[in-house]
Amino acid sequence: MAEFSLPANSKVKEGRSFKAPAGAKRVRSFKIYRWSPDDGQNPSIDTYEVDLDACGPMVLDALIKIKNETDTTLTFRRSCREGICGSCAMNIDGTNTLACLKPIEDCKGDVKIYPLPHMPVVKDLVPDLTHVYAQYRSIKPYLQADSQAPTRERLQSVEERDKLEGLWECILCFCCSTSCPSYWWNGERYLGPAILLQAYRWIADSRDERTGERLDELEDPFKLYRCHTIMNCTRTCPKGLNPAKAIGEIKKLMVQRKFA
Ligand code: SF4
Ligand code: SF4
Ligand code: FES
Repeated sequence: MAEFSLPANSKVKEGRSFKAPAGAKRVRSFKIYRWSPDDGQNPSIDTYEVDLDACGPMVLDALIKIKNETDTTLTFRRSCREGICGSCAMNIDGTNTLACLKPIEDCKGDVKIYPLPHMPVVKDLVPDLTHVYAQYRSIKPYLQADSQAPTRERLQSVEERDKLEGLWECILCFCCSTSCPSYWWNGERYLGPAILLQAYRWIADSRDERTGERLDELEDPFKLYRCHTIMNCTRTCPKGLNPAKAIGEIKKLMVQRKFA
């Protein structure tokens, strides 16, 4: 797994500390990154002790408990609480993952929680996804077909549909892109693993009729070829997908069409 830690000269300081209620027997400390654009302060790490006997099993359960009972100012995104919406992606215990799928018991020692790395932060654990969603829009993530639409749906064979396995399940949590060193350093122009997996999802779809145009768009030294097969993306994906393989498939198609 990709792991991240703060350098010794980091300006992130120890912040406030909140004790567990008296009598709590199974206590765990959560060390959580805090930053607000409104107070002009450097980021801090606040510590919250949580009584695990009065908390659900997942890291998201602890975050919700802290927000409801201890500190209403703690800010994070969540919606489905079952690994479907992708909104609770954050860096937990050194790994990008979904807070709703991460058991507290799987974390070593204090549970350290940061926003996804190398993204601008809106507040606390909320990353600014404006740029990555603009990149998503750029790959035209929808079916494009010029032929006459059938009266019912556009059909696929079982084999054609199988080509979308491992692609359609992506929930756009961006755990992969934010664990990719190439995306950290070239994110303005490199599309990153999440967006490239989505691009391949439409390239691989037998119903789409703009494959050539889609490949033309990606034939660029930065958009695609900044992937150096480091594989952090695949190691960190909380849905068990393989964005590095999808990127490899796009590169393969680029070569094949040169010799077609
Ligand atoms: S395989 Fe490519 S996309 Fe995945 S982490 Fe490595 S450089 Fe990034
Ligand atoms: S490939 Fe995995 S890690 Fe990347 S955005 Fe999709 S679900 Fe998230
Ligand atoms: S809350 Fe939806 S994926 Fe975690």
